[in-house]
Amino acid sequence: MKKSIYINKKINIYKKKSIKVSGDKSLSIRFAILASLAKGKSRATNLLKSEDVISTLNCLKKLGIGIKVNKKFCEITGKGLNGYSYKKDLILDAGNSGTTARLLMAALIKSKYTIKVTGDTSLKKRDMGRIMDPLQKFGAKFLNNRKNLPILIRGSKHLAPINYEELRGSAQCKSAVMIAALNVNGKTKLKCVPSRNHSELMFKNVLKVPIKIKKNKNFDIIELTGGNNFKSFNYKIPGDISSASFFIVLTLLSKNSNLLIKNINVNPTRTGIISILNMMGAKLKFKNIKIYKGEKVADIFVSNTKQLKAIKLNPKYNSSAIDEFLLIFLVASVAKGVSEFKNLKELNKKESKRLDWGFKILTMMGIKTKKIGNHGIKIWGNPNLKLHKNYKVQNYLKDHRVFMVSVIAALSLGGNWNIYDPDSVRTSFPTFLEIIKKLGGKIN
Ligand code: S3P
Repeated sequence: MKKSIYINKKINIYKKKSIKVSGDKSLSIRFAILASLAKGKSRATNLLKSEDVISTLNCLKKLGIGIKVNKKFCEITGKGLNGYSYKKDLILDAGNSGTTARLLMAALIKSKYTIKVTGDTSLKKRDMGRIMDPLQKFGAKFLNNRKNLPILIRGSKHLAPINYEELRGSAQCKSAVMIAALNVNGKTKLKCVPSRNHSELMFKNVLKVPIKIKKNKNFDIIELTGGNNFKSFNYKIPGDISSASFFIVLTLLSKNSNLLIKNINVNPTRTGIISILNMMGAKLKFKNIKIYKGEKVADIFVSNTKQLKAIKLNPKYNSSAIDEFLLIFLVASVAKGVSEFKNLKELNKKESKRLDWGFKILTMMGIKTKKIGNHGIKIWGNPNLKLHKNYKVQNYLKDHRVFMVSVIAALSLGGNWNIYDPDSVRTSFPTFLEIIKKLGGKIN
């Protein structure tokens, strides 16, 4: 029988409480892959121990990298650039993680043998052509004529630097080019639409590889000289804003509630949701702000807001909120007025078709919505929305974010909800339901 949870009671987070969420997923995967390419032992604290990160570690182990994980830290012993032990008939399974598949293929660009990279049902539907194109330009070969996993990749000794334009605003594509460039002698140049810049900050402040970053109005220009080994490093991974966002919205929409979420990565390329919610009338605040190796880290204070207003979002915020749109749609459904979100084609290319799921969940809740072409959504908010019917959420390709947003809708807006596949949270946020229960959420 398929597993599901049942929620029929709203939550109130009355007494001032504080929580911590688990380590940032983007930084955890980057730490693992970059440490595997460094020379010597690197250590991270607060590494996210979720299936996506574990898939990354398992792939690296298969490439001969020593990895030790205990309660306090994760230690990775890299053997420098081109230090992987390539074996014949190697199969690397990225599980559900697009970031793992795309960044890891870039790290394989010098492989002597053909390697098969694969993933789960959801990952097999996702486009890998977007990274195959630049990797091919560097000199890598793809042998089975497919743009979806499973893909056969073989590296080359004869790699050359490239000039590349990344126009989707995808941090995974940008990072794939940057990681591949590490292995290639000479200067690789990237012109890219801005997206999360964790790779740039790590290259510059942690690996200390020769990199120049210039910010123009609509593009970033990155110049990176590869071919030089870099030393191992230590990294303290802060909490994940994408995980924190579920609790931000839960508190924002729940009567008399407030919450402090501690030690979160609030890099401005990730805080689109904060800017958007504040423009909609929330009063989110950062406290205890620090800079750690170029990354901004802070505690986030959130309290319930009664008067939320609709927003016509400028698409310049899309990339910095890309994983949070289901939550933003939920907030728009109780905001006063009509909200509009455009240029969000990329949402349908995530773990599930998230733009379509936005429509499905809001329509099920009785909210009026309309498509804007095939890339956007118009939402007629209802500030008096009170749910009391039965709602069922299933067959969503186990997309963790569809599960978690449904839990937040149930706990903040009411109704009787049956939400299937609770194990989906294991990919990004295994302690999600534990924290919900700690805050008083009733889940059966
Ligand atoms: C990520 C980039 C984003 C994001 C994903 C993680 C990263 O994907 O949705 O969850 O770590 O670089 P895209 O690069 O496809 O936008």
